[in-house]
Amino acid sequence: MPPSTTRTPPMGWNSWNAHSCTVTESDVRDAAAALVDTGLRDVGYEYLVVDDCWMAPETDDDGRLVPDPEAFPGGMAALAADVHAAGLRFGLYSSAGTETCQGYPASLGRERLHAEQFAEWGVDYLKYDNCGDHRGRDAVERYAAMGAALRETDREIVYSVCDWGTNDPWSWGRNVGGHLWRTTDDSVAKWRTGADEFGLGIADILDRTAALDIASFHGPYGWNDPDMLQVGNGPDSGQSRHEAVVVDRPLTRAETRTHFAFWCLLAAPLVIGTDLTALDAVDREILANERLIRIDQDPLGFQGTPDRRDATEEIWSKRLADGGGAVALLNRGHDVTEIQTRVADVAVPTVADRYRVVDCWTGEEWETTGELAASVVPRDTAVLRVTPVE
Ligand code: GLA
Repeated sequence: MPPSTTRTPPMGWNSWNAHSCTVTESDVRDAAAALVDTGLRDVGYEYLVVDDCWMAPETDDDGRLVPDPEAFPGGMAALAADVHAAGLRFGLYSSAGTETCQGYPASLGRERLHAEQFAEWGVDYLKYDNCGDHRGRDAVERYAAMGAALRETDREIVYSVCDWGTNDPWSWGRNVGGHLWRTTDDSVAKWRTGADEFGLGIADILDRTAALDIASFHGPYGWNDPDMLQVGNGPDSGQSRHEAVVVDRPLTRAETRTHFAFWCLLAAPLVIGTDLTALDAVDREILANERLIRIDQDPLGFQGTPDRRDATEEIWSKRLADGGGAVALLNRGHDVTEIQTRVADVAVPTVADRYRVVDCWTGEEWETTGELAASVVPRDTAVLRVTPVE
């Protein structure tokens, strides 16, 4: 059986965007404490994942991974135990190649050995990247080898396939034991990135997601992953300092809300990528919005799909388990606009004469016989939860 936590999209925190290659065990302990103190653990963020650069530059003589003795002096078992004691789950990172993206030892050809290490340490989640030499082996073979090795351990380990969407992982992710698979290049804390910049902005990822048209591969125990949340990140984040991308103007409040609203409408894994010890109150409120988190975690597990996209307005929607649906109204233009649609034109079953509508940002409620509308400022997104009235 897949881990029961993957019945809905996994939620948590990952070290990469905050700390890039300088992550230490005290950063991880601080993140664990902050997840608890901010209340984010209690709204569902439970996995704490250490990304690239946790390992020493050399394996031991048998090819085992060794935690970097300076950054992780206490070792991974002790760190995992502390994370578990905080009521959280612990994740690590490796790559389906000879080296990680930052040039550290990785797991190709040593899948069983490393999976056994992860299980012994108490690892609950593995993010498995696509860097290093592949030794001529194709992606399905490389990812299947680690999937099988993880299954052979006696631990439930969530398997995050990170091939950036390069080899259509949605079509084989479940078959290799994956529970989520990246669909795009790395997200960065910008609305759009330039052609020669690293990664994709939030609007770029929405365009790419619409073009990919892979919602049918997505659902309980197997999730399309448009990459981590950039909420809270700016020029000082680890990723911005590390990668070839200029983040001198990070996401605005409206763009940040659009980012979070769409990740929830897409039922994306919600993996926070910011330094939680410096999270401001507005970003915390966005990340902790329980109306939106419920839409992300809806038991049907549908990925929202576009109903209408034009130069100034975008409408996406998905069905929900309560018989209704969620509708996102994105203003792509430059003026405040009332964006309008109808129940019959979106993914809400047309089974009633009246519907209850809840604005997921404000909590405001009203009833409609079919018209749906919201006033939206530029680059912001309103999300309406629409439920048939019996
Ligand atoms: C790749 C992945 C990122 C991150 C880095 C670490 O770029 O896509 O999410 O894990 O590697 O080096």
